[in-house]
Amino acid sequence: MAKRGEPKVDHEAARERTIGAEAQADDLRIDRSLRPKTLDDYVGQTKHKDNLRVFVEAARRRSEPLHHLLLSGPPGLGKTTLAQILAHEMGVELHMTNGPVVEHKGALAGLLTKLGRNDILFIDEIHRLNPVVEESLYPAMEDFRIDVMTGDGAFASSIQIPVQPFTLIGATTRTGLLTAPLQSRFGQTIRLDFYPEEDLAKIVTRSANLLGIAIASNAALSIARRSRGTPRIANRLLSRVRDFAEVLGTGKIDEAIVQKSADRLDIDSAGFDEMDRRLLRIIIEDYDGGPVGVETLAAALGEPRDTVEDVYEPYLLQQGYLGRTPRGRIATRRAYEHLKLPFAGPVVAKQKDLFDDGSK
Ligand SMILES: Nc1ncnc2c1ncn2[C@@H]1O[C@H](COP(=O)(O)OP(=O)(O)OP(=O)(O)O)[C@@H](O)[C@H]1O
Ligand SMILES: [Mg+2]
Repeated sequence: MAKRGEPKVDHEAARERTIGAEAQADDLRIDRSLRPKTLDDYVGQTKHKDNLRVFVEAARRRSEPLHHLLLSGPPGLGKTTLAQILAHEMGVELHMTNGPVVEHKGALAGLLTKLGRNDILFIDEIHRLNPVVEESLYPAMEDFRIDVMTGDGAFASSIQIPVQPFTLIGATTRTGLLTAPLQSRFGQTIRLDFYPEEDLAKIVTRSANLLGIAIASNAALSIARRSRGTPRIANRLLSRVRDFAEVLGTGKIDEAIVQKSADRLDIDSAGFDEMDRRLLRIIIEDYDGGPVGVETLAAALGEPRDTVEDVYEPYLLQQGYLGRTPRGRIATRRAYEHLKLPFAGPVVAKQKDLFDDGSK
C-alpha cells in the first residue's frame, strides 16, 4: 500500500491513456467546457444526487455550511466536478488545493483564514496530507478553529484562532489510504463507481450537443462501451472520434466511424487499450496467470505501483478480468477469453506449491 510522502500518483497517466501527450492541452480545455455546472446536468449517480439535493437545501435554509464530504473513486469519475457543482448550488466560493501541496500547518492556516462564510475548501488527494497538517485540520473541521502554539518550553501556550464555518470536501482515489480519525470526521462519504453504459452514452450525447457534433444514438452507445466506465475517457474518445469523422468521414459520427477510430487507436471491444492488454498478458504469459505481486507487476509494466493500483487495475477488477488474492493478482478466465488465449483452468496451486513443503 502506498505511504504518505511517496511520489504523487500520476493521474495524468489516466488522461494520456487513449490520447497521447500532445493532445492534452486541448483535452483539458474540452474537459472544462464539458463539465456539468449543476446537479441536474450531472449524469447518473442518482442516489447520491438525491441526497445531496436534500443536504444543500437543508444547509441553505439554515444558512449553514454543507456537511464535510469525502469523495472517493478512480480518476475521471467526477469528483472535482461534483465539488464545483456543490459550490455552485450552495452559492459559495470553492477554494481548491491538493494534499501534498499543503506542506505545513501555516499553509493550512493560511487557507482556512481566507475562507468566507460557508465556503468550500476542496482538498484533492487528501490521503496524501502531511500527518501534522492533517491533525491541525481536525479542530477546524469540528469546531471551526485552528490551534496555534506560541512560545517554547515552559512558556509554550496554545491560542485558538476562529475560522468561518466552512465545508471540507476531500477527494481521494482510494478511501483505504485515509486515516481513521480523518475519515470519521466527514459527515458523509460518497463512493463514485464506474458508470453504466447507458449513463456514459448520455454523457457522450450531452457532450456532442455542447460541441455541436451530430451523433447517432448507437454511435454514442458504442463510444460508451469503449470508455471503461469513465466519463473523462468517454469525452476524450468522443473528441478523437470527431477528428476521424471530420477528416476521414462525413463529419457525422456513426457506428462505423467509431469502430474505425477505435481500431486506429488500438482500443478493443472491451475498451481496453495497449496498457490494459499488456497488464493482462504479463500475468498470463510471464507468470502463468498469477498470482503475481503488484510490486512485480508494476516493475514489469514500468509504471509506479500507485498508478497501477489507482489507474489501471480498478476497472479490470470491477469487470472481472483481474482477481485479487492475498498473494497477488491473477488473470481470470474472462481475461484469457478476451485475449483469445487458452485457459488452463483455475489458478489454485502451481507445481511449485505442490512440491514445496516449506522445508528448504
Ligand atoms: N456525472 C457526470 N456527468 C457528466 N460529465 C461528467 C460526470 N462526471 C464526470 N464528467 C466529465 O468527466 C470529466 C472528468 O471529471 P473530474 O475531473 O471531475 O474527475 P475526477 O474524479 O476529479 O478525476 P481525478 O481523480 O483524476 O481528479 C469532467 O470534465 C466532466 O466533463
Ligand atoms: Mg479531480
